[in-house]
Amino acid sequence: MAAAEGQWVLMATGRSPTNIAVIKYWGKRDEALILPVNDSISVTLDPDHLSATTTVAVSPSFPSDRMWLNGKEISLSGGRFQSCLREIRKRARDFEDEKKGINIKREDWEKLHVHIASYNNFPTAAGLASSAAGLACFVFTLGKIMNVKEDYGELSSIARQGSGSACRSIYGGFVKWCMGKKDDGSDSIAVQLADETHWNDLVIIIAVVSSKQKETSSTSGMRDSVETSPLLQYRAQTVVPSRVLKMEEAIKNHDFESFAKLTCADSNQFHAVCLDTSPPIFYMNDTSHRYVLAVHWLGILIISLVEKWNHSEGTPQVAYTFDAGPNAVLIAQNRKTAALLLRKLLYYFPPEDKDLSSYLVGDKSILGDAGLHSIKDVEALPAPPEMKIPDQKFMGDVSYFICIRLGAGPKVVADESQALIDAVTGLPK
Ligand code: DP6
Repeated sequence: MAAAEGQWVLMATGRSPTNIAVIKYWGKRDEALILPVNDSISVTLDPDHLSATTTVAVSPSFPSDRMWLNGKEISLSGGRFQSCLREIRKRARDFEDEKKGINIKREDWEKLHVHIASYNNFPTAAGLASSAAGLACFVFTLGKIMNVKEDYGELSSIARQGSGSACRSIYGGFVKWCMGKKDDGSDSIAVQLADETHWNDLVIIIAVVSSKQKETSSTSGMRDSVETSPLLQYRAQTVVPSRVLKMEEAIKNHDFESFAKLTCADSNQFHAVCLDTSPPIFYMNDTSHRYVLAVHWLGILIISLVEKWNHSEGTPQVAYTFDAGPNAVLIAQNRKTAALLLRKLLYYFPPEDKDLSSYLVGDKSILGDAGLHSIKDVEALPAPPEMKIPDQKFMGDVSYFICIRLGAGPKVVADESQALIDAVTGLPK
């Protein structure tokens, strides 16, 4: 391992996207290995707007493994982090950087400690699958620094052991997590169905709901569902297998009608399973009843808006999907429908303050497409004709909207100035 007096710090930085499932993962058949009861399919979201960045540093001078998330030190002792660290270390290879005089043998990695700093470019509490992006980035970046040569399928099965949905963030575009059959989980891996350029008309609008709450734990919720919901058994054994085949076909053929119907049906069935759980899981979970009602109402309003609009057009314009939190994810078949959708959404959920441009993050140019140049344009929006409750508005219920496209998988960030760890001290910058 001998290098310049043992005082070196070696670093790698990676960036990984988050993903949203269109066929949901809900329920494990093995808790420790994180093996699911059904396949799932997701779309990867553009990392420019929603992603985790992670720097891993390694140095003979580090006495222990340490990690910081969004600047705050967190414990690495949890089983999930430890599984990922162990699996990557097992596959580590010889590494040499002649210029820096660093030479690490495969067996040295067991003794070398890591410092890991991770940062999400969106609020963790927004409930936008930050654990998927974070764990995928953790595994991807550790794999890079330790010179792991395994393919992405194998990396996905390691990320899976950090958080199930993280295995799908190892690729861009459309991704399927195959549940696998083996007890050791070696065939429970993610595969890419198509990259992000395959169907690049799709535009995603996310309504981020005002909430000071932390992301609700999917882990304990899905455990309760597996133990108590008869609907979950039927879903996993009968519904999802045929739905996954249809979804793969829809993606392959750019068949938006089928894609949208399957996406909405699967989101609704996932929430039906939550209600079928004992005690029932109110997915838009919170301690305050008033808040629960408010966010349920928001979800119901958005679902009914999309359902009625789709029905009045005779063919789906937009798909909706909700995870284990209150945010609505809306997938429009193209930019034109996304702009129309935004007009309908902003009618019901106008911004509280007058600054329109901070109310929509991501691809702000959609505001121009929607003819919304100032708050006056929002105030003048007509009520969506398909709705029967035209005059009610819900100012303040949505904190902001995100307009985003599908995106690519994890990448190395080569620019050292973007590293989150100081190359001299080995601590977060
Ligand atoms: C509703 O991957 O967060 O978002 O495997 O226990 O870490 P663990 O759960 P997690 O569950 C995600 C559930 C979901 C649906 C999905 O992403 O498929």
